Amino acid sequence: MKVLVTGGAGFIGSNFVLRAREVRPAWELTVIDAMTYAGNRASLAPVEDEIRFVEGSIADADLVDRLVAENDLVIHFAAESHNDNSLDNPWPFMESNIIGTYRLLEAVRKHDKRIHHISTDEVYGDLELDDPNRFLETTPVNPSSPYSASKASADLLVRAWIRSFGLKATLSNCSNNYGPRQHVEKFIPRQITGILDGVKPKLYGAGANVRDWIHVDDHNDAVIAIVEQGRLGETYLIGADGEQNNRQMIALILELMDKPADWFEHVNDRPGHDLRYAIDSTKLRAETDWRPQYQDIRAGLRQTIDWYAANRAWWETSKAATEQVYARLGR
Ligand code: NAD
Ligand code: DAU
Repeated sequence: MKVLVTGGAGFIGSNFVLRAREVRPAWELTVIDAMTYAGNRASLAPVEDEIRFVEGSIADADLVDRLVAENDLVIHFAAESHNDNSLDNPWPFMESNIIGTYRLLEAVRKHDKRIHHISTDEVYGDLELDDPNRFLETTPVNPSSPYSASKASADLLVRAWIRSFGLKATLSNCSNNYGPRQHVEKFIPRQITGILDGVKPKLYGAGANVRDWIHVDDHNDAVIAIVEQGRLGETYLIGADGEQNNRQMIALILELMDKPADWFEHVNDRPGHDLRYAIDSTKLRAETDWRPQYQDIRAGLRQTIDWYAANRAWWETSKAATEQVYARLGR
């Protein structure tokens, strides 16, 4: 099978490519990535000779048309992915996440191919801390930030193309990923790399916000399971029952990195900050044989911390620029 991976130089996409080379060696992989600040070719170095890499944007209709025509399946990770950036400058989110997805859908329709669209639990808005319900595939979309609104828009386009044109597509909405090769702007790598540099973790507001953490390999295994065992036209929620609030996560990171429990500081909160995400992944588990391998958040974090400690060259170049942005935003 020939597989086009969009956003394959980013965090989840690059881990997907590495994983797919391991568990599906017969797949012929082409990556298209615009190499924004979030793309990193070093993430693909171990498989550089085994894949085809095309630098370009999914908003480029001609390029997308050509690449889709040459492949059987598109796995669509490419997006602007950071909420804080979307609050600062929403336009790249509209272009990559909405227009880029539209270009892919049109090419997939024209050439009668298949697409799996990667999305986020953030499209469903947020939950109260004591809400006994979790997100389901039937939960109405209710996004809060320009990022999540752009992802919800893309999801709605995919669903419309399925219904109106019979597009061969599946969707998945996953919770917060962690693991190696995540950009240092994101919560967990920001704190780990800060501590490695002697800087205290930064907690937005009071830190009561809850995220439903999943290891990136578990996310990517679920994507493979959906592509192979899921039903066309369906949406699957991906989650590993990993709810933790941000204070708890910082406490765990500090403990694993041998720092005192109070060695962190509060910074300004994110405007419109979603309170809680929580995924009910019953449908995925009922229809596929997928089960998360990383059941223990401590073991997953230990592996992630070790990776950042051993791969300074991977993140050091982007650390200063990232912190300059945060300094301007007061976070
Ligand atoms: P990331 O920011 O690390 O990587 C995104 C990649 O897409 C980068 O390599 C970037 O260069 C590329 N890209 C951006 N715009 C592009 C364009 N116009 N054309 C081609 N490439 C482009 O993001 P990530 O965390 O790996 O997220 C990947 C996908 O997973 C996104 O669709 C995101 O919404 C979704 N998702 C992320 C999480 C998470 O916790 N990180 C959870 C659920 C879903
Ligand atoms: O839920 C899935 C989403 O998870 C994905 O769609 C997004 O692409 C991904 O970035 C992530 O979004 P969040 O906004 O939840 O992730 P982030 O890493 O930015 O922040 C996680 C939590 O930590 C959030 O409550 C904000 C908080 N935070 C973040 C940073 C960077 C801090 O307290 N301090 C920080 O320094």
